[in-house]
Amino acid sequence: AQSPKLHKTVVMVGMMGAGKTAVGRALAQRLGVPFLDSDHEIETAANMSIPEIFERHGEAFFREKERMVIRRLLEEERGVLSTGGGAFLAEENRRNISNFGVAVCLQADLEVLWNRVRHRDTRPLLRTADPFATLRDLYEKRVPLYQQADVSVVSDGSSTIEDMVDRVLEALR
Ligand code: S3P
Repeated sequence: AQSPKLHKTVVMVGMMGAGKTAVGRALAQRLGVPFLDSDHEIETAANMSIPEIFERHGEAFFREKERMVIRRLLEEERGVLSTGGGAFLAEENRRNISNFGVAVCLQADLEVLWNRVRHRDTRPLLRTADPFATLRDLYEKRVPLYQQADVSVVSDGSSTIEDMVDRVLEALR
C-alpha cells in the first residue's frame, strides 16, 4: 500500500535551478499521476511567457496569478505539482499547500543552482547587473522558508533526475 503522503498532491518547492520541473515530471510519471506546473499554467492562461508577464505587468501581478493558479490546481486534481521558486514564500500558498498536499523541498548548493540557471534567460528576477549576487541574495533569504516544507531532498552536482525521484519517494514513505 502507498504511504498516505502519496495520496496527496506532491508539491515541489525550492530555488530556481533546483530541478522542480524535471524531477516533478519524472516523479509524476513514476507514480502514474498527472504532472501539474504552476508557471506553465500561468503562461498558458496569459498567453505570455513569464519574462513577458513580469515586463508588462510586474511581479505583483505574477504573484497574484500564481496564488490563484496554485489554489485551483490543488483543489482540482491530485498529482505532482511543480511551483515557481517564489511560490512557497507566500503564507497563503504555504497554507493551501499544507491543506491539500505535501511539500517536498529540493535543495542544492548555490554553485549547483548557478550552474543550472546561468545559461538560461528565462528568469526575470536574474536580469540584473550581477545575476550571481542576486541569486545568492535570494538563496540566503529563501532557504530558511523552504525549510518549512514537509520533507527535503538534496541534489548534488552529479545526482540524476531518477536519483532525485528515488530520494523523494524514500522521503515520502
Ligand atoms: C521565480 C522562479 C521561477 C518563476 C519566476 C519567479 C522565483 O520559477 O516562477 O521567474 O521567484 O524564484 P522556477 O523556480 O521554476 O525557475
